[in-house]
Amino acid sequence: MCWQILCILLIFLGSGTSSPCHQKLYDGAFKNVVCVCNATECDEIEPVGDIPDGRAVVYRSALDGDRLRRMSVKMVGKWRKNDLVNVTITIDATERFQKIFGFGGAFTDSAGAQLEAVSEKLQNQILNAYFGENGLEYNVGRVPIASCDFSTHEYSYDDVTDDFELKNFALADEDFKWKIPFIQKAIEISKNKIKLFASPWSAPGWMKVTGRMRGGGAMRNDKRVYQAYADYFIKFFQAYSSHNIPFWGLTIQNEPSTGADMSWRWQTMNYTAETMRDFLKYYLGPALKRNELTKPLKVMILDDGRGLLPGWADTMFNDSTVSQYADGIAVHWYGNLYSPAVLLDITQRHHPDKFIFGTEACTGYFGHHGPIYGDWFRAESYADDIFTDLNHYVTGWTDWNLCLDETGGPNWAYNVVDAPIIVNRTAQEFYKQPMFYAMGHFSKFLPRDSTRVATTVQGNLAISATSVVVEGGRRASVILSKAENPLTARIVDAATGYSLVLNLPPRSIHTVIWNKRK
Ligand SMILES: *[C@@H]1O[C@H](CO)[C@@H](O)[C@H](O)[C@H]1NC(C)=O
Ligand SMILES: *[C@@H]1O[C@H](CO)[C@@H](O)[C@H](O)[C@H]1NC(C)=O
Ligand SMILES: *[C@@H]1O[C@H](CO)[C@@H](O)[C@H](O)[C@H]1NC(C)=O
Ligand SMILES: *[C@@H]1O[C@H](CO)[C@@H](O)[C@H](O)[C@H]1NC(C)=O
Ligand SMILES: *[C@@H]1O[C@H](CO)[C@@H](O)[C@H](O)[C@H]1NC(C)=O
Repeated sequence: MCWQILCILLIFLGSGTSSPCHQKLYDGAFKNVVCVCNATECDEIEPVGDIPDGRAVVYRSALDGDRLRRMSVKMVGKWRKNDLVNVTITIDATERFQKIFGFGGAFTDSAGAQLEAVSEKLQNQILNAYFGENGLEYNVGRVPIASCDFSTHEYSYDDVTDDFELKNFALADEDFKWKIPFIQKAIEISKNKIKLFASPWSAPGWMKVTGRMRGGGAMRNDKRVYQAYADYFIKFFQAYSSHNIPFWGLTIQNEPSTGADMSWRWQTMNYTAETMRDFLKYYLGPALKRNELTKPLKVMILDDGRGLLPGWADTMFNDSTVSQYADGIAVHWYGNLYSPAVLLDITQRHHPDKFIFGTEACTGYFGHHGPIYGDWFRAESYADDIFTDLNHYVTGWTDWNLCLDETGGPNWAYNVVDAPIIVNRTAQEFYKQPMFYAMGHFSKFLPRDSTRVATTVQGNLAISATSVVVEGGRRASVILSKAENPLTARIVDAATGYSLVLNLPPRSIHTVIWNKRK
């Protein structure tokens, strides 16, 4: 009898314990750890579960090898100001800012090529790791319209010169092999929570002054071309819709500023704020609104570095017709080192009715190109940028390729980078980089429609923090320590006076979750 109860208890406890990380160590100056997954074994994230009164649930990842490890920490009713803690983090849930839209990654050809190259079981492990309940619970996906540099070659959906009526429009093999099947699966796994947006890297080559997608140059100054390109967007959304893939939004052009560089090594197209404004005003905007399917799509301008703000938004939204056609401003992180985050605040002040959303970021695009296995500092730079963005009105953050091969490709323009998941086809296994867990600290615990609230950090400059209030009053706070030393932090919920003390190991990320008290 007794042992039966014990068994039930053990089964009960066992079901709550998720599979641990199978660590693999790589050479490096610090502890370089990846978590290895194969067709049968993959680490999962333990659910938050019920949070009893007087406790908080904490997830920790750190340079020392912890990866989203769940813990339970005691909360105390009254906090003493003169505690011997190194850092005080105060959350004021009454001071509210933007709503969170979500977090995710991109369904590039290169990511799809990795998924196609592994067994269906391993494919499912990757998609579950991102979109599943025991994974990162991504709820955003970016889909390139035709090819980008993370393709194996240049192609558009209509490469027949001067086909203004787009009679030859057709999705490419890549869509059928590498995008559609995996997007469909992700929609299913995410239980329809995923919101997709599309971005073109270039119009078909013949629509550009240069005749090719690669390299800079603008669209041919010809009304037939402008109209055909607007129709091309509609045809894309119709084609995907016929495969049961609905979209939430789009950006008008990936990194339009690179289109001013004629020798840019991959697909791009030149717009200035003025030419983007005019294309949206006279062609794309009306085309999207004329069509029932595309009418509700959220249109994002810019899709480029924040250094171009607020000017780009001012120029476009200054036109009231254009402003009606656009909903948000998409930003990429490249160049953030040279453009202060205050530009986001200024933009938000100028255009409080528009949202700002992070649409691309990756590491390994300069310095050491391609993957560095187990590199914690790349995880830190993800977290750092997400903190900065969220604390400056950005509503979410989209990573670049969901997964890549061991070289950080394929990339036909040899622009290899890193990704949170690197697939080893030879071994039929994949590696979850520290960046994967950095994303999870946000994507899993800052759900859609939670609201960012005021968070102040006192006591140490190596600490960043951001917090949200979730519907129902639950709070989640993410804390990054870039300190080389262990620190103790007191986290105070100012509205209720409840607090907890957390030991922050060197170079660590924590997400702390607790319920509102009565
Ligand atoms: C999968 O990984 C687990 C844990 O590392 C290992 O025990 C198992 O042998 C692996 N299976 C295959 C098929 O490689
Ligand atoms: C953190 O606080 C403890 C206790 O007051 C102190 O001994 C330690 O030096 C502090 N560490 C740092 C890095 O400030
Ligand atoms: C980019 O477009 C702007 C505005 O049309 C134009 O002034 C500039 O010369 C263009 N640059 C290139 C390289 O096409
Ligand atoms: C906005 O429009 C006004 C009036 O047409 C003009 O004076 C102003 O310079 C414009 N601002 C921008 C940033 O385009
Ligand atoms: C991929 O697997 C092969 C075969 O097991 C192994 O030799 C290689 O080191 C692995 N690559 C990485 C990056 O671990």
